[in-house]
Amino acid sequence: MINKPVALITGGATGIGAACCRALVAEGFHVGIHYRKSAERAKNLLAEIKDGFLIQADLTNMEQIDMMVAKLKDITGCVDVLVNNAGHSINADILSMKIEQFDEQRALTRGIWYLTKRILRQFMLRSSAGRVINISSVVGHIGNAGQAPYTMEKAALDAFTKSLAQEMAGRNILVNSVAPGVIETDMTEELPPEVKEKIMANITLGRIGKPDEIAEVVAFLAKKGTYITGSVIHVNGGLYGG
Ligand SMILES: NC(=O)c1ccc[n+]([C@@H]2O[C@H](COP(=O)([O-])OP(=O)(O)OC[C@H]3O[C@@H](n4cnc5c(N)ncnc54)[C@H](OP(=O)(O)O)[C@@H]3O)[C@@H](O)[C@H]2O)c1
Repeated sequence: MINKPVALITGGATGIGAACCRALVAEGFHVGIHYRKSAERAKNLLAEIKDGFLIQADLTNMEQIDMMVAKLKDITGCVDVLVNNAGHSINADILSMKIEQFDEQRALTRGIWYLTKRILRQFMLRSSAGRVINISSVVGHIGNAGQAPYTMEKAALDAFTKSLAQEMAGRNILVNSVAPGVIETDMTEELPPEVKEKIMANITLGRIGKPDEIAEVVAFLAKKGTYITGSVIHVNGGLYGG
């Protein structure tokens, strides 16, 4: 068994998730790098951070989540911090988006809810301690044309944070969201330059953020922040103040 606190980061192989893995190892956690498709990047990250393990699952598949929780039981026997970072955006305006694409967007939110439920029951409620950190998004608060279902799911994630924080009151389990603004990752690389420029015009600090700048807030909520629960912490360079 591991004699360190364990943090599980979903979508941990890339972007903001990978930065969270690095930041949490630096804070003394044994880190579970969860991935879906990015096996090679997950393997390389583990070689870099050393203090951790790999775990694979498609979080839209409930059976794979069940298998993942069973594996976690064997690998570490505990999860002290869950960072629900995995996310994807399906981009199209309402007139061209198909119902199947809407369902695909929604399926991940369902998986995040189910994974959280399983981790709470299997680990955190048994040890009467835990932190759940949901990575939502500024667009869940300000909206974004061409991303209606994504913005709906991110707003839902913040509502989940608030409800779950209340359900876990008195159980020593803190639940918070970190809502990034525009951050330099694979997800934003896909944006056309004119869209990026338009966004930057509204960012007080005049630049896109770095994954580390989200990860340092996640690390704070994972380790410190003992009087913070049910909150959405906005990290967006002044794009939106909350
Ligand atoms: N970048 C931004 O500007 C920004 C802004 C606001 C919020 N966010 C949020 O930050 C989080 C991380 O995004 P990122 O920017 O770092 O982009 P990213 O590098 O594309 O990361 C997304 C991660 O989610 C995982 N993932 C996607 N669908 C999954 C599924 N069905 N099952 C399991 N894992 C799945 C991916 O895993 P695999 O690669 O292994 O498939 C990937 O590691 C997301 O929740 C995103 O919505 C990002």
